[in-house]
Amino acid sequence: MPEIIGAEALSVELGAKRGLLKNRPGVTAVDGVSISVNEGETFGIVGESGCGKTTLARTLLGLQRESAGRITLQGADVSRSGRVGREAVQYVHQDPGAALDPWWRVGATLAEGLKIHGVADSAERQARIRDMLAAVGLDPALAERYPHELSGGQQRRVGLARILLLRPRVVILDEPTAGLDLSVQAAVLRLLRDMREKFGLTYLFISHDLSVVRRVCDRVAVMYLGRVVEEGSAAELFAAPRHPYTRALLAAAPRLDGAETGPALPGDPPSLRAVPSGCRFHPRCGLATPECATRDPVPETAGPGHSVACHRWRDAA
Ligand SMILES: Nc1ncnc2c1ncn2[C@@H]1O[C@H](COP(=O)(O)OP(=O)(O)OP(=O)(O)O)[C@@H](O)[C@H]1O
Ligand code: SF4
Ligand SMILES: [Mg+2]
Repeated sequence: MPEIIGAEALSVELGAKRGLLKNRPGVTAVDGVSISVNEGETFGIVGESGCGKTTLARTLLGLQRESAGRITLQGADVSRSGRVGREAVQYVHQDPGAALDPWWRVGATLAEGLKIHGVADSAERQARIRDMLAAVGLDPALAERYPHELSGGQQRRVGLARILLLRPRVVILDEPTAGLDLSVQAAVLRLLRDMREKFGLTYLFISHDLSVVRRVCDRVAVMYLGRVVEEGSAAELFAAPRHPYTRALLAAAPRLDGAETGPALPGDPPSLRAVPSGCRFHPRCGLATPECATRDPVPETAGPGHSVACHRWRDAA
């Protein structure tokens, strides 16, 4: 399948203040990230809190300006263009409630999106909203309710309906199952799978729940402190992870079968304001050598479609 959206050496600086009197350096929340997402696939992005997943998503969407690198969408360079030309990419918010206006009935929120996208006829908007609410498994009468009258699972379905009404090609799902109990999670994942088939969607699936990523993603990129440290097919990455960080994440992940998990990752994720020298994972890595503190690893090929940025990936088997 051809690439539908891709990033090349993408970097994003946040929080910098530049002025005549005061200069405050920013942090590089996304640092030279290259990914290539193929049409129709579910591409996972995993990593601990603060590693830059949402920043990467916002930049691909054009809501955040990149400081370096290139973004391509359906073959066209859309870098530095803001949202213009990126209507085919839509985002399902990490916090489903935050995407819905608390003072507006669900139907009014959904209609507003359609109005902005040029559906002028009110009867057509109402018909599309009814159909879409039904498609995401909700009673169309829910259009009359306010967001606080919905459950977390229903809010997620409404959030999905809201963006599917805009007929996207690529949907960025930011932690789509966070905070849901297991049965609701399973229902949301089934719905996402059905919607992908029905509307021919491509998903960028952001999550720190590895068991979910393993189940739904075709390929996965693992991020650490703004960098992609390992990338490969989900099957290979979970069966034979090569980066010590990926291995530690997997060992610490809760098991579906309830079996004991390995030790939690040592230490806190380091701060973007003091990025470690050399390999940025070295203060937490059990395989680190003196070289790791001075030399930054570059991605190497560890197998077909499998890349890993670690000096010692051959030893991590
Ligand atoms: N406006 C800002 N100014 C400075 N730093 C910021 C700003 N916004 C975010 N950051 C920092 O950028 C980093 C990346 O944040 P981001 O929200 O992309 O992480 P994330 O991987 O989505 O985390 P989570 O899993 O918690 O959602 C974090 O360290 C965060 O503190
Ligand atoms: S480069 Fe060194 S510190 Fe970094 S992950 Fe590999 S072994 Fe660990
Ligand atoms: Mg986030």
